[in-house]
Amino acid sequence: MASKAAATLLRRGGKHFFTRYWAAKTKSSPAASFAPSLSSFVPNPAGTGAKSYLGSSRLMSSDVTNGRFMAYSMLYHDSVAFLVSNQLGIPVFMASEPKTPADVAKEFNLSVRAASALLVTLCRMDVVQVVKDSDDSVDDIVYGLTPSAQTFLSNRKDLACVSPFVDTFTTNFITPEALLECSLPADEKKDIMSEHLEQDDETVANNARHFMAHMNAQSYCCAKALPKALGLDSVNEPKTLLDVGGGSAIYSIEAIQSNPNMNGIVFELPAIKPITEEYIEKAGLSDRVSVSPGDFFNDPLPAADYVLFSNIFHDWPDSINANLIQKAYDCLNPGGKIVISEILLADDVKSSTPAATSMNVIMLPYTKGRQYRPKELFRRLQKVGFTKPQVINLVDDYDLVVGTKA
Ligand SMILES: C[S@@+](CC[C@H](N)C(=O)[O-])C[C@H]1O[C@@H](n2cnc3c(N)ncnc32)[C@H](O)[C@@H]1O
Repeated sequence: MASKAAATLLRRGGKHFFTRYWAAKTKSSPAASFAPSLSSFVPNPAGTGAKSYLGSSRLMSSDVTNGRFMAYSMLYHDSVAFLVSNQLGIPVFMASEPKTPADVAKEFNLSVRAASALLVTLCRMDVVQVVKDSDDSVDDIVYGLTPSAQTFLSNRKDLACVSPFVDTFTTNFITPEALLECSLPADEKKDIMSEHLEQDDETVANNARHFMAHMNAQSYCCAKALPKALGLDSVNEPKTLLDVGGGSAIYSIEAIQSNPNMNGIVFELPAIKPITEEYIEKAGLSDRVSVSPGDFFNDPLPAADYVLFSNIFHDWPDSINANLIQKAYDCLNPGGKIVISEILLADDVKSSTPAATSMNVIMLPYTKGRQYRPKELFRRLQKVGFTKPQVINLVDDYDLVVGTKA
């Protein structure tokens, strides 16, 4: 069953959901009740310093007025404007030279008012910047792409392009009705695995390929940051990174490229192995990154010095993750490290970043999991014997939770 697994477009109640479900025979373990002292843990709040790109001092300014509640009601439309702009290809169109709202309107057959509204939102988001201002209407401003939009939004052929991730939310936007539907108690019991396996092999394969591109875009900057964050770039003897559910192999590729002492193994479902191998081949690293086919619920993991779970734990409930942590402990060499990469909720909940709370909601229709807090993962790690648990900021809203096998 596991070998047939893949992500899929799932039609539910007229809405498409791009599921992250991968068929697997799961076995759960009893929920942990172990509660170690947290006093030795590094008290880094999750996502520290990662909020500024969304921050607005006005939004947070007052407890005695209603402004922020109105703002939260409306911010959804900013996201829609961003998604639609990217779907139309506005950043690609603006890559070569600055444009006015009239230029954008003409290119995409929009009204100037609509093009201008999209550009104003993109300007607030640092996708575009004002190149030539107008003292009169905002409709007359000349905008150019910002350097980061040039890098991450302007060239769909570039591996750095984040658009495969953005596109997923354009085609699978969670409407209020869809959120309510997947929040029903009955939805928790639904066997989504069986539903998506009912599709033909070609659909399953296409969806898997699409999902790998989505994950590759999501993990691009994290993977670039991993070697330094973990010190993989400076290990001075041969070490192996095992990337469990490693998808596009992007973490292994970056780790290996950072240091000749590093080797990589991607543990992936047999059905996904050929797609993973394509990414490795494109990077020219087939001799140093291998793909070990298997099902992480039913098969043992290969021996390694670092075991990485990136965006895996938030797909599954706590009890299943406890099994994965035990498997990691069993396969690690002495002194080895488990590395969990996730957008974490903050320990106090309140300090969670908007990306963390959004991802937590996104998990409702797509998975059986949620975002976790450092302290809950610390407890899990300690329960199986990992020591020195710590949180290391990886990039933006992503953190690593790391534990060491004594
Ligand atoms: C959310 S993606 C994460 C991909 C990658 N780690 C990243 O962060 O870019 C989940 C990955 O886990 C893999 N996966 C799901 N169930 C699995 C299983 N039972 N055994 C092995 N891999 C599995 C999927 O094929 C998919 O590539």
